[in-house]
This record gives sequence, C-alpha cells and structure tokens, in this order.
Amino acid sequence: MKIAVLPGDGIGPEVTAEAVKVLEALELPGLILFDGDVGGAAYKAHGHPLPPETLTLARECDAVLFGAVGDPDCDNLERHLRPEQAILGLRKELGLFANLRPAKVFAGLEHLSPLAPEKAAAIDMMFVRELNGDVYFGDKGTRQGKDGSREGWDMMSYTEKEVTRIAQVAFRTARAGNDKTRVTSVDKANVLETSQVWRDAVNAAAGAHPDIELDHMYVDNAAMQIISHPERFGVILTGNLFGDILSDLASAAVGSIGLLASASMGERQTAHGLFGLYEPIHGSAPDIAGQGKANPMATILSAAMMLRHSFGLNAEAERIEAAVAAALGDGIRGGDLGGSHGTEAIGQAVLERL
Ligand code: IPM
Ligand code: MG
Repeated sequence: MKIAVLPGDGIGPEVTAEAVKVLEALELPGLILFDGDVGGAAYKAHGHPLPPETLTLARECDAVLFGAVGDPDCDNLERHLRPEQAILGLRKELGLFANLRPAKVFAGLEHLSPLAPEKAAAIDMMFVRELNGDVYFGDKGTRQGKDGSREGWDMMSYTEKEVTRIAQVAFRTARAGNDKTRVTSVDKANVLETSQVWRDAVNAAAGAHPDIELDHMYVDNAAMQIISHPERFGVILTGNLFGDILSDLASAAVGSIGLLASASMGERQTAHGLFGLYEPIHGSAPDIAGQGKANPMATILSAAMMLRHSFGLNAEAERIEAAVAAALGDGIRGGDLGGSHGTEAIGQAVLERL
C-alpha cells in the first residue's frame, strides 16, 4: 500500500502531518508513505507547481493524501504556474473525474451552523461533482471583443460519455448510502446547451437504475433549496463549476469547514482497490499557516475516506471516524469550531481515541 503524501502550502503541511500520524498508528501491514512537493512550495523549489517527479510519484502510488495549495506569494504568476494548477493538473492527469464531498453536521455541532438547529441537523448530503470537464478544462483565452474592448472567454462543454460516467458514480453512491437513494441532478438546462446534454444523458443513464429516485433542479434553485430545505437532498450530482460553488455553499451551511473531507476518483484499479486522491475541502489558510492553529480533522477524515475507497479497509476507516467523533464529543475543538485546541493537540486527541 503506497501512499503519496503531498502537503502543499499554508496549513497543508501541518494538517497532513497529523493525518500521517493517525495512519501510522494503525500499523497497517505494508503501508509505505512517500512525500512529494506540490503547489507554491513546489514552484519555489522546482519552478513548477506540479513537477514531473510529483506526478510520477502519484502515478506509482495507490492513493494520494493531499493537503492544500494556494500561496499569496504566487498570485501574480502566470496562470499555468499558480499553485491551483497543481490540483487541477493532478485531477486531469490522473483521470480523477469523480469528486465525492460529503456535507454533514456532526451530532452536537448543530449550533455551529448558521441555519436553525433542526435544519442544520437535517444536513446530510453527498456531492458527486464531475472533475475533469466543464468550463474548467475548455479552451480559454482573451481577445478583442465586438465592442473593441478586451474580452475573456472560456468554453463550457460536456459530452454524453462524460456525463454518463459521472452519473453512474452518483447512482452507485446513492445505492451504497442506505438512506440516500435520491439523486438530484443540478444543471442550468433552461439556459445552457451543455446542461441540456447533461440532463438528457443523466436521464438515459437512470434507465438502468429504477430503484433510484432521480430529480433535476436548476442550479439557482438548488442554491436556495440547500439552505431552505436541506432535508430533501441525498446525493447531488453536478458538473465541475456548479459543484465547486454548491459544495462551498453546503460547507458554510454545515458551519465547520475544518471537518469536511473529500475523495477524487477515476477508474484506475490498483493491487488494493480504486486509485484516488483525498483532501480536505478547506484551502491553505495562509493567514494562520505555521502557527499550529489549523484543525487537522478534515484531513484525518480524508485519510479515513482513503482507507475505505482505495483500500477497502472499512473497519479502519470507521475507527478513525469514531475517534474524531469521540474527540468532538469530548469537547476537543479547533479555532474554526470556536475552540482553542491547536493542530497537534487535536491530532493527539484523535490518536488517543483510536
Ligand atoms: C476546490 C477548489 C479548486 C476548484 C481550486 C483550488 C482550483 O476550489 O477543490 O473546490 O475550483 O476545484
Ligand atoms: Mg472550491
């Protein structure tokens, strides 16, 4: 079991260090961890946010544990050299087209949500976001516009095949989560051709899954319903751009972005399962970097997702999740949750409860 650990920028190294301690504490036979540079840190060391040796390392491993990328020092670099290109490049180069982002309020933390407690308690949704297509990866550029001024343009597109494969992931995910058999596909089919193809392809793919309750929602309405009626969502299937926006919206509704994990997967089978990249939803938080203040729980929970999805180690994943829940239950709180526990203290608290 080979894992590439890519800490990245800002709080990335601090939070991944705690997740690594948790993985090591499980004493999994055959586990080997490799470190790689990524993001602004890699740009500073190698002149590129995703150096070839990091990409090769990721390809040779069975899974990637990713911290965060983003560095204010790099804000003025050309786009292809910015830290964010590292995560986009990894997703594309490794064929990681399916992004799973659970948004759920932990028991006892309902008060951290800006929603009313009964609404907050009802938040338990799973985003299945397409990650290799859409306006993110279309042709783009700047040119002289019809009015004579500079014009920026980005091509949005989805093929039926791209939509079908992510829809299959959503249907499989819905079936795996017993109480989440409803899939809501989110698009903007009232305006965009891309979304019409999306909707048609999702409907066609649903034919093979009569047990799944499928509905469609326009993205603007979805943004409203996620806040006003979170209880009506199970799995939310959507494209790259809408998924980016709505998953942040949902994490704000949960009120504890420092607890939200994610998995990105494709189709590559390794000797142990499905290859995947696992990262916390939060970013590099340069304002608190290096101060030992960041909450590592989202990264620790991402490591749990890795054990489950890439190694089939469900019992070990549950051990980690139970340890995090127990630490929260015992009042261990990072600053993001209104508490004062530091990064290492939180990591230690989880280790003690494993
Ligand atoms: C995310 C992030 C990335 C995205 C950025 C860092 C490129 O916001 O993972 O949601 O837009 O996908
Ligand atoms: Mg985002």
